[in-house]
Amino acid sequence: MDQTPWWHEAVVYEIYVRSFADVSGDGVGDLAGVRSRLPYLTELGVDAIWLTPFYRSPMADGGYDVADYRDVDPLFGDLAEFDALVSAAHAAGIRIMVDIVPNHSSSAHPWFQEALAGTGRERYMFRDRPNNWLSVFGGPAWTKLPDGEWYLHLFAPEQPDFNWHNREVHEEFLDILRFWLDRGVDGFRIDVAMGLYKADGLPDTDPGFGAASPIWSRPEVHEVYREWRKVLDSYPGDRAAVGEVWTDSAEDLARYVRPDELHQSFNFAWLEAPWSATAFRKVIDDTLAAVSAPTWVLSNHDVVRHVTRYGEGSLNPAAGPARARAALLAMLALPGSAYLYQGEELGLPEVTEIPPEARQDPIFFRSNGEIPGRDGCRVPLPWSGTAPPFDFGPGGSWLPQPADWTDLTAEHQATDPASALSFYRRALATRMALRGTLPDTIGWLPGQPDTLYFTRGDLICAVNCGEHPATLPPHHQVLISSGPLDGDTLPPDTAAWLLTR
Ligand code: NOJ
Repeated sequence: MDQTPWWHEAVVYEIYVRSFADVSGDGVGDLAGVRSRLPYLTELGVDAIWLTPFYRSPMADGGYDVADYRDVDPLFGDLAEFDALVSAAHAAGIRIMVDIVPNHSSSAHPWFQEALAGTGRERYMFRDRPNNWLSVFGGPAWTKLPDGEWYLHLFAPEQPDFNWHNREVHEEFLDILRFWLDRGVDGFRIDVAMGLYKADGLPDTDPGFGAASPIWSRPEVHEVYREWRKVLDSYPGDRAAVGEVWTDSAEDLARYVRPDELHQSFNFAWLEAPWSATAFRKVIDDTLAAVSAPTWVLSNHDVVRHVTRYGEGSLNPAAGPARARAALLAMLALPGSAYLYQGEELGLPEVTEIPPEARQDPIFFRSNGEIPGRDGCRVPLPWSGTAPPFDFGPGGSWLPQPADWTDLTAEHQATDPASALSFYRRALATRMALRGTLPDTIGWLPGQPDTLYFTRGDLICAVNCGEHPATLPPHHQVLISSGPLDGDTLPPDTAAWLLTR
């Protein structure tokens, strides 16, 4: 029997619950919506889903401001609906990861409410004067209370940072993990996993995610994940945790996935790289040298969708979609797990035309509208029909969808073999067929300038990031390509999987 744990080479699909599918009709996606669309996910061919926070929350940051870590917000359903989703997903062979938000709670959390009233302030980061730290969302990272004390919030003021030097915070999160593990989840995505501890004395800093920062990747954080790993290991089945770790070094990333810590951490280096074979090759080399169970990510609910990113600066309007398909083949050919973000399989672009009154991201408001923020990648999915809300739900959508998304609906694409959705389905099915047959190592083949040619056992993945057609390496069979091939020629912005046997 294959002993490889599932998370080692999984395709995990991120569901931004608010924007996936709405059954209740309030214009906001919900857990029942996820359950209703499980057949779509089965057909797509994903191994697992990661649900963004659905806990009780005032929604100051789309649910990443948690007021009760052990309950479902009525906007999204209730615990019975969550249990029904877990059962239905498991029956469909799909695992479930939930999001744990340990760096901060909501200011509506009972602990912070107590702190405001003057008790239990040692659970958060209260000081009698602030330092120079800035919030990730813009503006100062400190808010002053009427009694003169300040509290730290690396994100919005409604997201006060916990004090992880307090043992009570540890115990609380160990209990929260057990609560969801007992309900049958297969794992966790850890929000701001490199936060949690701040340097003693809270010295002033320059911004950035560098490993020497007094804010990020402090050494003490690893002790937390050692504790968490013991809890995960005490449950049957392969329960896994993946950390959201923004860092500028693969070595730092690797520290989070030591054998007694997290199973995986997101590897954002690819997502941050430009469309360039040299840049991709460096990311791949650095990653594989540093971690043994890597992950690959092209998009998520915090960044500009990669169809749009890859099109930027290109004179060819088709470059973005073509490159996005090619990048998928590259990512799926590499050892490790691939994390997809809902809507990328539909080729959705970033939505830029959101009127200011419809915007919801705190980044937009805290930058006085100067930074558009993340609403553009969070627009609710178009499922079917010819006009908004495209069957997202019966009652509109919390962010407006572009009226011209008719051709991008899942229904429209499902029957078109040339669509992004059909391509994703084929790519995932091809990867599935190869699973277990490929080694965990890759080798580089020589190619023309700005090509990325690598082998994994009998498989060759060839990507042309350049402006000119390239010659494919010798092969016996083309398994799949991201666009039309011209004989043995690989056009620009195209990738192919070849078999050498
Ligand atoms: C990362 C999450 O992905 C993002 O959406 C959120 O705003 C911050 N962490 C703060 O929780």
